[in-house]
Amino acid sequence: MAQIFRPSANSIAHASLLGVAIVPLVLGLAIAALSRSPWNTKVDVPLNQPVPFSHQHHAVELGLDCRYCHKDVEKSSFAGLPATETCMSCHSQIWTNSPLLEPIRQSMETNTPIKWTKVNKVPQFVFFNHSIHVNRGLNCNTCHGAINNMHITAKGNSFQMAWCLQCHRAPERYLYKDKAPEAQGRAPRQQVFDLYKKLQEGGMKSLDEREKQLMSGHFDGTNDPADILAGKKLINEYGVKTQQLADCWTCHR
Ligand code: HEC
Ligand code: HEC
Ligand code: HEC
Ligand code: HEC
Ligand code: HEC
Repeated sequence: MAQIFRPSANSIAHASLLGVAIVPLVLGLAIAALSRSPWNTKVDVPLNQPVPFSHQHHAVELGLDCRYCHKDVEKSSFAGLPATETCMSCHSQIWTNSPLLEPIRQSMETNTPIKWTKVNKVPQFVFFNHSIHVNRGLNCNTCHGAINNMHITAKGNSFQMAWCLQCHRAPERYLYKDKAPEAQGRAPRQQVFDLYKKLQEGGMKSLDEREKQLMSGHFDGTNDPADILAGKKLINEYGVKTQQLADCWTCHR
């Protein structure tokens, strides 16, 4: 039978196979690198807002609870944003002439909601739910960075799949319970909001190492063996289904 391929075709085939394998790999890596740059993910970049709302001011200095404005965060998948009336409950009486608050007054008069620029978003094909995370005692800052320091809100993390999975594959590095005697018996979600109170009342010096990391937006999971053990205990206590957390259908359904 005639030879269909010359021996040299073999090396050509190898080379093109290699090419076929490498081209998408390089392209893939380039796209991945681009998609991870701050240009796309906008981590730490404050976004323009119709009103320069400061979390540092309202949530820490004035000590307003997150739930005053993000009412649904512990009950539903969405945290939600405050209605204009929520701002006006104070600003109809104080800072009433501030030009910065003109859009709020306009919104109230014309009965049209403020169009806040969205800071955090996952694509439509990703399922996310606030309440389950907050009810496991995970502080907002774990995902949103140091909200307590923000004068203009910025994104604290990339929210890419690998970032979600870093925790879903090892939740014991993130689950945490306040060790203070007065904190025992409190619902896990309560400690989320208590930590901002603690910061407001006692400042950074009143916080332990881990709480400090959280409140400065630098908590990436603990490596301390004792804390990891405590995290594992919480997994049992809360009945966290660790085998399913990294399954595709948990987040894509
Ligand atoms: C007085 C009302 C108020 C309080 C209290 C408040 N927020 Fe907000 N928050 C807002 C408003 C208004 C926005 C939309 C404008 C912006 O992004 O800054 C917002 C936006 C956010 C966003 C970004 C939303 C997006 O577009 O992705 C996060 C995250 C957030 N808040 C977290 C918190 C946390 C955590 C607390 C408690 C420590 C808190 N907020 C307390 C009013 C409030
Ligand atoms: C509990 C009362 C309270 C609520 C509710 C509240 N604020 Fe304020 N806000 C204040 C106080 C007090 C100040 C002034 C603080 C200072 O500068 O000393 C202020 C200051 C501001 C300023 C700066 C004004 C300037 O001219 O410097 C802006 C902008 C602002 N608030 C926006 C908002 C928005 C938007 C909301 C609703 C999401 C809101 N506030 C809800 C109490 C409140
Ligand atoms: C496990 C990570 C995680 C934690 C913890 C978390 N968030 Fe979020 N947050 C997200 C993600 C992801 C989005 C984007 C959701 C989307 O696009 O549907 C988001 C969006 C938001 C928004 C924009 C409005 C909305 O509902 O989409 C606000 C406001 C917000 N978060 C506030 C909070 C507050 C307040 C807390 C703490 C009580 C908190 N978040 C805790 C991950 C988290
Ligand atoms: C810091 C840790 C952490 C991060 C970050 C995190 N999660 Fe979770 N997630 C958890 C824990 C803990 C649970 C609770 C599982 C349980 O109790 O069974 C959970 C549960 C879930 C669930 C299941 C909800 C349900 O109703 O069954 C979904 C969906 C989810 N996470 C999506 C996400 C997405 C998407 C991201 C990234 C944008 C994310 N998570 C980031 C820790 C985290
Ligand atoms: C903890 C939640 C979570 C789990 C579990 C998860 N994903 Fe994702 N996935 C995400 C998020 C968040 C994004 C959006 C990333 C972005 O916006 O850059 C995403 C994006 C994707 C994309 C779009 C391409 C990309 O990388 O952005 C594909 C494909 C995908 N996931 C497949 C999977 C498969 C297959 C599995 C199971 C092996 C899986 N995911 C498990 C959260 C998850």
